[in-house]
Amino acid sequence: MLTALLRTLDPETAHGLAIGGLKHAPWPAALPDDPILRTTLAGLDLPNPIGLAAGLDKNAEALHGLARLGFGFVEAGSVTPRPQQGNPKPRLFRLSEDRAIINRMGFNNEGLEAFADNLSRRPQGVVVGANLGANKDTEDRAADYVAGLHHLAGLSDYFTVNISSPNTPGLRALQGRDALDDLLGRVAQARTTPAPVFLKIAPDLTPDEIAMIVEAALAHRIDALIVSNTTLDRPASLRSRDRAEAGGLSGAPLKEKAHKALIHAAEAAKGRLPLIAVGGIDSGAEAYRRIRAGASAVQIYSALIYGGPGLVGRIKRDLAARLRAGGFASVAEAAANPVLTER
Ligand code: FNR
Repeated sequence: MLTALLRTLDPETAHGLAIGGLKHAPWPAALPDDPILRTTLAGLDLPNPIGLAAGLDKNAEALHGLARLGFGFVEAGSVTPRPQQGNPKPRLFRLSEDRAIINRMGFNNEGLEAFADNLSRRPQGVVVGANLGANKDTEDRAADYVAGLHHLAGLSDYFTVNISSPNTPGLRALQGRDALDDLLGRVAQARTTPAPVFLKIAPDLTPDEIAMIVEAALAHRIDALIVSNTTLDRPASLRSRDRAEAGGLSGAPLKEKAHKALIHAAEAAKGRLPLIAVGGIDSGAEAYRRIRAGASAVQIYSALIYGGPGLVGRIKRDLAARLRAGGFASVAEAAANPVLTER
């Protein structure tokens, strides 16, 4: 009901109210998870493999509430070293008929100082990651990621180097080989704690580009690849009024593209690099399909806006049933020997 009410408001107002509600979280903690869902991701112990994707809690201010929704892990950010306002509003569009979102937020956030302050009051007992970005007007983008690693060392359970947001001009160029080698080399040097470092890529890459990124990630000791961020595509199937708005598209129309990108990553990785699937995941069936394609864990964002917070529990219940029906004893077992076909 609350989700339905929020949907009547303009999307950014609704987002602000949701974060406000999550901050105060009057509801009890989620029930313990079915043991079949327990898993590990790059050395992190997770009670279940369903994570919250970056972008909902940009400043790590609602972690207590988010932890209570039953996620196995929560990724906050993207955070940039200095605070920045992001793009002018409107910059967030709900494409309801398509069960999709277009956003061109542009890394609006309060900066590393505020983020660190919030993380120092983080809830215990839930895995929290910090998704790092670069300021729009920065000269040396790699230095911004290094600043994030230094500033948040010891506060975050893992880090994500996000080089795939479409709303910071030039950011996606960091996915090219030379820029990537420079960036990942400096990231490797900046690591001072055992916290794993993930790399988040775009879905708008060719299979060869994905294979190159997998090799670069392995060469520089990246611990997992997150596949994927939003797409710049505008599929012909889109029906909603705002379908031509600029920005990154997420939700149902991203599903097949993100799944294909995951398969290309799994083909290249050959079990050498853990994968985290994101993009259009909206059910236990879809979470299971990505795990069977080689994902160690999944993340969701857009489906939560349409399905409401109860979605997390529904996905977990259905996933546990599907693992059992498939004859698997664990998520890891289901992710091994992946099914690398696109259907
Ligand atoms: C995002 N996403 C995102 N990703 C990221 O790495 N840093 C960020 O700051 C944001 N910000 C952001 C804002 C909004 C409004 C949306 C909808 C999305 C991308 C997100 O984490 C995810 O990769 C995609 O949305 C695809 O997953 P879903 O939404 O299809 O489940």
